[in-house]
Amino acid sequence: MTLHIVIMAAGKGTRMKSDRPKVLHTLAGRSLLQRVLDTTATLQAEHTLVIVGHGADQVQKAIDVPAVRMVKQEPQLGTGHAIQQVVPELPDEGTTLILNGDVPLIRAETARALAEACGGQRLALLTVTLADATGYGRIVRSADGGSVQAIVEHKDATPAQREIREVYTGMMAAPTAWLKRAVMALDNQNAQREYYLTDIVKMAVAQGVPVVASAAAAEIEVRGINSPRELAQLERLHQAAQADALMEAGVRLADPARIDVRGTLHCGRDVEIDVNCIFEGEVTLGDGVRIGANCVIRSARIEADAVIHPFTHVEQAQVGPGSLIGPYARLRPGAVLGTEVHIGNFVEVKNSTLAHGAKANHLAYLGDSTVGERVNFGAGSITANYDGVNKHRTVIGNDVHVGSNCVLVAPVTLGDGATIGGGSTIAKDAPAGQLSVSRARQLTVPGWKRPAKLPK
Ligand code: UD1
Ligand code: CA
Repeated sequence: MTLHIVIMAAGKGTRMKSDRPKVLHTLAGRSLLQRVLDTTATLQAEHTLVIVGHGADQVQKAIDVPAVRMVKQEPQLGTGHAIQQVVPELPDEGTTLILNGDVPLIRAETARALAEACGGQRLALLTVTLADATGYGRIVRSADGGSVQAIVEHKDATPAQREIREVYTGMMAAPTAWLKRAVMALDNQNAQREYYLTDIVKMAVAQGVPVVASAAAAEIEVRGINSPRELAQLERLHQAAQADALMEAGVRLADPARIDVRGTLHCGRDVEIDVNCIFEGEVTLGDGVRIGANCVIRSARIEADAVIHPFTHVEQAQVGPGSLIGPYARLRPGAVLGTEVHIGNFVEVKNSTLAHGAKANHLAYLGDSTVGERVNFGAGSITANYDGVNKHRTVIGNDVHVGSNCVLVAPVTLGDGATIGGGSTIAKDAPAGQLSVSRARQLTVPGWKRPAKLPK
């Protein structure tokens, strides 16, 4: 079946009260429009067209996908007028699926089922039954309650029609050739003086094109966003659904209402996550991993039995099995930690590998460094990796002991088993197995007296 997808995204989004186009606001880390595009990418449509209007340039810049074409609607005279703009872009064949750029959680299965219900022959409408249908187009059925006769917009509905709770979600699939003719025949004789796409339903009925309505499986899939409040509400519903799926898979969440997954979180067995953690991008937590409260973890792999203590940030990093990280630690891009590494409070690691059993437990910075096994990196010690122009590497062998408050001026190498005396600035390589110290020798001044208070 030839499939074309049209995503309507030209509306103003007045109630967002934002300079950013509505469809570029984000839900769980991705823009509303990006979500719809990511979902529909799996449907293998021949054409994917996005109708843009308000903030078209910003939308175009944000969505830079070669397979997706933007079509401008200027001015915006209604949803029917929006579809008129893509008529020249669509061939006379197959099924055209119409989705909304501000309905972000539509599932691929639902979209596919809608396209299949059309099958290039019928007008298929995605509907939902709501407790409060205010504002929505009502599905008007024949007197016997059977076939769909029309969609009547809220503002045009009679009091009796306003009682109907079965509504149109804004998503439909239609035979492309017929749709093109139908939208070109629309008028704007209605309460809002708009070209309503929904008026094609009564045309279909009049012309004997079968109309089928299928109900959405879950309301969350058809919820549209019009305001910051609706955006936040849908975010919470989506997070609750993700938390549910995690718990279903055995993950123990201290509070399912206090976790945010803004990407994909893969978890092994016996994973425990405390409150207020944020996961972004693709994150993998191995068996037995424990994540403390208030951690932010982005694009990372945490291996089995590692513990991330509270208030730790991890970004584009890997943590080896059995490692202990935090509290208040920061792993930046390129931090790759082996097994049983300990990174303590106020320690920052960037673009560095730490081998088995290495420890930096307090107030330290390791940048652009290679750290051997069982190294102990003392409190307050840092690698000075940046000379103001270039970054340089620090190489620390196995079993090195770096005392407290040292500065390792890169490029520099500390041989296996070297010891660096506390307070040293090390700008030359330190030989293996020996003590290197660079601080001034301690002296005691004989006969020195503290100053006394001068007489007035
Ligand atoms: C529309 C439907 C209504 C349905 C509701 C579901 C029509 C006439 N009515 O109403 O039956 O219950 O959606 O949410 O279709 N858009 C454009 N260009 C325009 C106007 C709108 O691209 O000129 C886009 C908007 O950006 C939005 C979508 O079309 O993504 C729907 O527009 P909106 O104004 O929200 O339609 P509703 O009046 O809510
Ligand atoms: Ca709407």
